[in-house]
Amino acid sequence: MIGIGTDLVELDRFRATLERTPGIKTRTFTQAERDYSEAKNDPTERYAARWAAKEAVMKAMGVGLGGVAMADIEVVKDEGGAPSIVLHDSAAAKAAELGITEWKITITHTESLAQAIAVAL
Ligand SMILES: CC(C)(COP(=O)(O)OP(=O)(O)OC[C@H]1O[C@@H](n2cnc3c(N)ncnc32)[C@H](O)[C@@H]1OP(=O)(O)O)[C@@H](O)C(=O)NCCC(=O)NCCS
Repeated sequence: MIGIGTDLVELDRFRATLERTPGIKTRTFTQAERDYSEAKNDPTERYAARWAAKEAVMKAMGVGLGGVAMADIEVVKDEGGAPSIVLHDSAAAKAAELGITEWKITITHTESLAQAIAVAL
């Protein structure tokens, strides 16, 4: 194991942030992540869970906000609903530099909180 990271997002605060700065959606989330989130009853729960996943991945790589582009860390889903991480460009380059070849991610969310834990292998 190369690293582990976690993040917890408060839905109320995140909802207010998205309302105040809607551009965060396009800067931070991929088109597929936005399509998935917007199709749900409460998109903010999904966005917050994905934000938590991206921060957890960054913590596992030991980089802070701005260390890699958040949109380069993507949460994808398999047909059973399980999430996994796909890295692009800046995030993929950082992971390669660290020798990371595989990710484990787990996500949960309620009406008030979203959480993710990421493990870099
Ligand atoms: C897995 C399961 C117990 C999760 O329960 P839940 O209470 O809805 O989950 P939580 O609210 O804590 O978390 C939701 C997150 O769990 C993750 N998740 C969903 N299904 C998952 C699964 N099978 N394995 C791991 N994580 C899963 C997702 O990331 C989801 O968030 P997202 O939709 O925003 O990406 C439930 O969705 C379930 O029973 N699914 C059916 C699984 C199944 O039939 N799999 C078939 C395998 S082929």
